[in-house]
Amino acid sequence: MRQGIDRDGRHLYPAFPYTHYTGLTDDDVGALYAYVMSRRPVEATAPANTLPFPLNLRPLIAGWNLLFFREGRFAPDPGRDEAWNRGAYLAEALSHCGACHSQRNFLGAEVTARAYTGGEADGWWSPALGAKSTAAPPWTEASLARYLVGWDPQHGGAAGPMGTVLKAHAGVQGSEIKALARYTASLFPMPAPDRAPLDRPIPEDDPSLTRGATIYAGACATCHESGGWAAGGVPYTVTSLGQRSSVTGPDPRNLIHVLRDGIAPEQDSAGPIMPAYGDTLTAGQVTDLAAYLRARFSDAGPWLKLDETVRALMPRAPEPRSATKLEGRP
Ligand code: HEC
Ligand code: HEC
Repeated sequence: MRQGIDRDGRHLYPAFPYTHYTGLTDDDVGALYAYVMSRRPVEATAPANTLPFPLNLRPLIAGWNLLFFREGRFAPDPGRDEAWNRGAYLAEALSHCGACHSQRNFLGAEVTARAYTGGEADGWWSPALGAKSTAAPPWTEASLARYLVGWDPQHGGAAGPMGTVLKAHAGVQGSEIKALARYTASLFPMPAPDRAPLDRPIPEDDPSLTRGATIYAGACATCHESGGWAAGGVPYTVTSLGQRSSVTGPDPRNLIHVLRDGIAPEQDSAGPIMPAYGDTLTAGQVTDLAAYLRARFSDAGPWLKLDETVRALMPRAPEPRSATKLEGRP
């Protein structure tokens, strides 16, 4: 857990987050051991290592560790209060938030100087937590405390890999979530930047944006123009899509994933519902729609290579149908 070495003395790949678990206390490692050992044993063979040469050579990890691994228990900051330190321990060691939210170098190591500047998780983009955040409205301790257990009226919930993290927090004590929120909030600049969600008229002379606006009106507005859950609108929707990082952030992949796959609620529990459009909209239509949302809700400029990204993420999108113009308009 804390050195990345298995019981036979072999190095583990740093995909297993021992670079974070090295901070765990003796008590927590002991508790994890006790929990794991109380599970029913399973008979299973670990899948063979299919990494290409030279990554398949485990001894190389010793070199990687020498370069990038700093072993050591978490050290509290005496200048901060107890809750902040508890949150820092949870975030840095136990929950390893940086594994997804920090930038990595070409050898896959988290770059300390770029901690929380945004990273990757399963083909999703993980937003920056801190000065580089593009979230509108800005994150606060109170919003984080709500978001970290599922949904916040300012920012919504999470449909991607973060959703798994939020669900895992469901059984966690309130004081632990508050501590995590306090620490995470301290990563963001104070006072919070004055950044309100935008909603701007789109230029009328751009055919792609006009097509995107028509799809939005037909497929999305019933839910996303309902005023938001907090104002009695569709459950789990925020007031405006300008509040979502998937629309205001620098990377369009999260938006494309959500449009393609939708959001399916779990059996026997209430949750956000959004249909999947991967079988309905063509890649061109998803591109128009994403460009429209971007132009309307963000002033950060169009996403570069949007069209290519949509095509790469939607290889099985339906083919465009013949362009017969429908008659009979108001
Ligand atoms: C049946 C209602 C419904 C429809 C129709 C719908 N959505 Fe959603 N959408 C939701 C809900 C609920 C969420 C979750 C919101 C949250 O967590 O705040 C969501 C989330 C989103 C998000 C945020 C995703 C994220 O992870 O950041 C975007 C962007 C979005 N929808 C765009 C659209 C677009 C574009 C369309 C039309 C093609 C659409 N939605 C159609 C209900 C709907
Ligand atoms: C498995 C990778 C992963 C881990 C671990 C992870 N996150 Fe995330 N996080 C993401 C991704 C991806 C998103 C984008 C939204 C989504 O997944 O729907 C996100 C979104 C967020 C957001 C919303 C930011 C914004 O501006 O919209 C916050 C806040 C956040 N994470 C905090 C945390 C904290 C705190 C932890 C540690 C307790 C953590 N995350 C652990 C991947 C991760």
